[in-house]
Amino acid sequence: MQQGARHRKAARGVLWYNDVLMARLWTSETPKHVGKTVELVGWVANRRDHGKLIFLDFRDRSGVVQAVVSPENAEVHAAADKLRSEWVIALEGEVRARPEKMVNPAISTGSIEVAATAIRVLSESSTPPFPLDTVGYDIGEDNRMKYRYLDLRRERMKRNLLLRHEVTLFMRNWLAKRGFVEVETPILTKSTPEGARDYVVPSRLQAGKFYALPQSPQQYKQLLMVAGLERYFQIARCFRDEDTRGDRQPEFTQLDIEMSFVTQEEILQLVEELYVELVKVVTPQHHIAQIPFPRLSYEEAMAKYQSEKPDLRTDKTDKNELAFAFIVDFPMFEWKETEERWDAVHHPFTKVQSSKFKVQSSQEEFIEYIKQSPGELIAQQYDFVLNGFEIGGGSIREHSPKILEAVFEVLGHTREEIHAKFGHLLEAFSYGVPPHGGIAPGIDRLVMVLAGEENIREVIAFPKTGDGRDLMMNAPAEISAEQLHELHLEVLGEGRKSGELKKSK
Ligand code: AMO
Repeated sequence: MQQGARHRKAARGVLWYNDVLMARLWTSETPKHVGKTVELVGWVANRRDHGKLIFLDFRDRSGVVQAVVSPENAEVHAAADKLRSEWVIALEGEVRARPEKMVNPAISTGSIEVAATAIRVLSESSTPPFPLDTVGYDIGEDNRMKYRYLDLRRERMKRNLLLRHEVTLFMRNWLAKRGFVEVETPILTKSTPEGARDYVVPSRLQAGKFYALPQSPQQYKQLLMVAGLERYFQIARCFRDEDTRGDRQPEFTQLDIEMSFVTQEEILQLVEELYVELVKVVTPQHHIAQIPFPRLSYEEAMAKYQSEKPDLRTDKTDKNELAFAFIVDFPMFEWKETEERWDAVHHPFTKVQSSKFKVQSSQEEFIEYIKQSPGELIAQQYDFVLNGFEIGGGSIREHSPKILEAVFEVLGHTREEIHAKFGHLLEAFSYGVPPHGGIAPGIDRLVMVLAGEENIREVIAFPKTGDGRDLMMNAPAEISAEQLHELHLEVLGEGRKSGELKKSK
């Protein structure tokens, strides 16, 4: 709608929601409009009744502005009198400079106020279960999760979501400029080993069969290299059924990267450049402890810091220090005492550093060496750490099907199992596979550190509780007996009762 028409309606004292939306003015922009009449839409953060004058803290995504309602316009004053916290309103008013002693330097709009000339209620609000104008750390986690849509209204949470948006936007643009292509890979897929339990989804059409949600897009990104994509990335959702901790969620996000014809050195340099520039642009208040990022071998890190993710900050009380580092030269396999078997330290697709050992005269000899001495092998694997958190991991991949088979054998898979589980990958590698490698930095942990938070839940819009529940949606939940039947499933124990109850409804 034209400006003129909007103003005519406003002048009649009627604020039309749609008209306002089309020429949306943010509260943060109001100081630029001193002397003008503006229309704003948003929430009543707070109403203070000072006898004749009513003050409103009026909030939208961009911030807060103070509105003042004087008793001269009885209709508007009566409307303001009824307002309560968190009501959604449209507000028309004149932007006035505040007298000097009334300026509030704590808010960006503190030099002005809006003298209300019209108020229209767009929706009312029940009393929120907890305050929204605090940082919120003291509020019970369960309550915050159940009313997450309210919890996210608080300034701190909004800032965290905006920071996360800026981080991923920067990554996307930066990589796209360097010839990387973002490709989405399936969520309904097959198990891929990353060391955690899978989340599984029963198939309706294939009785008794299950999809697994990806622990990472590892195999897909390697298959995209076989497909000739050469430089891939994805802001990828990953799912791992493992115990939740402060820096672990059952679903989380990676900046997943894979490149063909690439060396470990090139991957580490790419990541270093990306992160240095990201910090400079997105959170310039931070300073990076050391550039180039220090590199430690796994052995060195363990000997010096007893940790594979050492915190290398010089001053751990300084909130703005970022100590990035790469840990390299991990062992290829580790012995699992309880299960009495070898396991891959990273994942089985990682390449062994053949150069660390005596030069092998043939692939057969090298394969024999892998099988005979798994405990001695060093992998072309690297971790990326920041302030004591593992914020990424990757490797150069083994692209020879024969060596891969040997690795799977060391891991205890029989020939039949190898072909059932990884046959598709081995077959793909028989059709001209480029040497390739990649890395997957975790986005939640990076944003957590950049935001100065101590738990990744604070930087995820809708996270799960420690025991894997979404208290707002009430998930996981039972499904009806009909759904179970369709999925060829029967629930044993406690779950069965509720299934039957639902059917009888
Ligand atoms: P990896 O398993 O090391 O590697 O994971 C990479 C990074 O993902 C983050 N991360 C998590 N963040 C939050 N919650 C979790 N539960 C969680 N698990 C992992 C960490 C970790 O460093 N496919 C390989 C990458 C590759 O080889 O390219 C992989 O997923 O920051």
